[in-house]
Amino acid sequence: MEANATKIAVVTGAGSGIGRAVAVELLRTGWSVVLAGRRAERLEETAALARAVLAEGSPGDTGEGAGKDGTSSCVRTDVSRPDEVAALFAAVRERFGRLDLLFNNAGTFGPGGVPFEELPYDAWRHVVGTNLDGAFLCAQAAYRQMKEQDPQGGRIINNGSISAHAPRPHSVAYTATKHALTGLTKSLSLDGRPYRIACGQIDIGNAATDMTERMRSGVLQANGEVAVEPVMDVADVARTVRHMAELPLEANVQFATVLASAMPFVGRG
Ligand SMILES: NC(=O)c1ccc[n+]([C@@H]2O[C@H](COP(=O)([O-])OP(=O)(O)OC[C@H]3O[C@@H](n4cnc5c(N)ncnc54)[C@H](OP(=O)(O)O)[C@@H]3O)[C@@H](O)[C@H]2O)c1
Repeated sequence: MEANATKIAVVTGAGSGIGRAVAVELLRTGWSVVLAGRRAERLEETAALARAVLAEGSPGDTGEGAGKDGTSSCVRTDVSRPDEVAALFAAVRERFGRLDLLFNNAGTFGPGGVPFEELPYDAWRHVVGTNLDGAFLCAQAAYRQMKEQDPQGGRIINNGSISAHAPRPHSVAYTATKHALTGLTKSLSLDGRPYRIACGQIDIGNAATDMTERMRSGVLQANGEVAVEPVMDVADVARTVRHMAELPLEANVQFATVLASAMPFVGRG
């Protein structure tokens, strides 16, 4: 186990998009971050990006870890597989001996545009396995570590979605799993109270990532039209997650909704 005064985080889905941006933001501000995802080369790219950002220097650093040296390590993990999740958290325990934050971010939209009555069961299972089973498995492993460690406690931030509130057309698997994450978040907030385990959720709308690439060319709206939608910079999500992460355990952002200001969500279209 390394002696390390920095805070320790696990970020799942750290090889791209929001997970990558959050991992870099945490590393930039002194956290040690374990990067998890299925594609090892994408995790290594994130680690290299963070090193480059750190080498450039970050005059704007204001995080509580600013000035400390955070380290990254990459653990190839499929979050839908219990054995791989167990190995991920065993690696965290072995290297750091504690865990302060899980950003439960890995997720998939599944096949877009498939009418409900035609959605194959395998496609449903894949989305549920990734978004819900994966989030459960990682949260449970993190929770056990946080309950056992001394000092006790930590924080879990689940990555929900605008789809935890309202569906897009033909998105039943994604929408159902993201609504389910809200239940996971609330249950862990309650069950974690005696152990100083805080749990919050970020619900994002249209951050520019691979997953939202199709927003730029046009996506199906509730009224049947196809429309281009505004997107926002993923760095704005990363800063929000860091703020949630760095609160003392006595305080918690229970739910944060961060979206492209002009996207069709509030109001009708
Ligand atoms: N972008 C948005 O506007 C938006 C809005 C609402 C919610 N979200 C949520 O944000 C999260 C990240 O999405 P993103 O926009 O950043 O899209 P993304 O770039 O497609 O990221 C998804 C990440 O999840 C990982 N992943 C997928 N299945 C996995 C599995 N079985 N095990 C481990 N990792 C897995 C992927 O890496 P590998 O393929 O290498 O495993 C990838 O890094 C998702 O939960 C998504 O629902 C995003």
